[in-house]
Amino acid sequence: MKIRFVLPRFARKRPVPLLFAILASHFAAVAVALNVGGDQRLGGNPTASTQGKQAFISRCSTCHGIDGRGGEHAPDIATSAVVQQLSDADLDAIVRNGVPSRGMPSFQALGLAEIKTMVAYLRVLQGRNGAVKVNGNTSRGRELFFGPAHCSDCHMIRGEGGFLGPDLSDYSRSHSPENIRQAIVNPNRDLSPKADTVTAFTRDGSKLAGVARNEDNFSLQLQTPDGSFHLLMKSDLAALSHDHHSLMPSDYASRLSARDLDDVVSFLASVCTGSRGGAITDWKAARGVN
Ligand code: HEC
Ligand code: HEC
Repeated sequence: MKIRFVLPRFARKRPVPLLFAILASHFAAVAVALNVGGDQRLGGNPTASTQGKQAFISRCSTCHGIDGRGGEHAPDIATSAVVQQLSDADLDAIVRNGVPSRGMPSFQALGLAEIKTMVAYLRVLQGRNGAVKVNGNTSRGRELFFGPAHCSDCHMIRGEGGFLGPDLSDYSRSHSPENIRQAIVNPNRDLSPKADTVTAFTRDGSKLAGVARNEDNFSLQLQTPDGSFHLLMKSDLAALSHDHHSLMPSDYASRLSARDLDDVVSFLASVCTGSRGGAITDWKAARGVN
């Protein structure tokens, strides 16, 4: 079969190789764009997502990457917890104004409607409309946290709870739901040495395990899970071990059902909702933008 291109008069005068190159590069670009579309999850509104996706690919992906996970010229805006915490309005504003001093152009000229479709697509890349969505029951999560899951034995939220683990009142400001889930099911990942479990065996045969709050060559101040502090002289100890594992139970993935876990994650993710208005201020502070 012969394929004949019907060309406008001005084009017929051009040398064929150049014309072929133009057409070939055009088809290649279309093919790339189609291929890219193949495996992405789309959110609730397919038309808006498709428009947003096309706009995102043509306007944002050269710097932030097709998947938003960053490139040579710009940061990850898909999995970054700081960016995930921003409201849609905050994101609209960042895209509208850009961060010109740092290489992010302003997209004001596009108009708000197009900006919103790109931000909506960014949410898809972030997983907000896709698989990572948290659909737990927040109040049930709260009950689990302060009840049967025993989280509050060690963690405080807004002045309520224990002292051994970090206060989680503001944890969701800088951690996405996925980060929260990981911290619960895999407490030994990224564990800082300060969070090692320390076990002291005294000469009279007793054993104390907790977190070292202070330690020098002669003494050790140990905080045990009940929150109390014990000042121990090393000369009184038969043995002392530092184990690089967290005091936080590492079996929550099996102890909690999938639904329990969703509920606890939703609860923690919701804890600072009241102050979310501060997200853009946090973003500006974190990025040093005025
Ligand atoms: C020419 C390259 C370039 C293009 C095109 C671009 N950006 Fe950026 N963007 C950047 C750079 C560089 C930064 C980092 C600015 C800084 O250091 O604070 C940034 C930052 C951001 C941030 C804040 C990220 C953070 O971690 O603080 C968001 C959100 C963002 N861009 C969204 C977009 C969207 C949406 C588009 C498409 C409409 C886009 N950008 C197009 C270069 C670009
Ligand atoms: C026996 C005490 C204990 C219990 C019970 C416990 N944790 Fe923890 N948790 C810790 C300690 C200690 C750390 C800090 C060291 C680490 O990251 O493992 C921690 C870390 C965390 C972190 C990360 C905090 C940060 O700043 O990095 C989260 C989130 C968390 N716990 C949530 C929970 C939830 C939710 C539960 C209940 C399902 C729970 N924990 C039960 C002791 C506990």
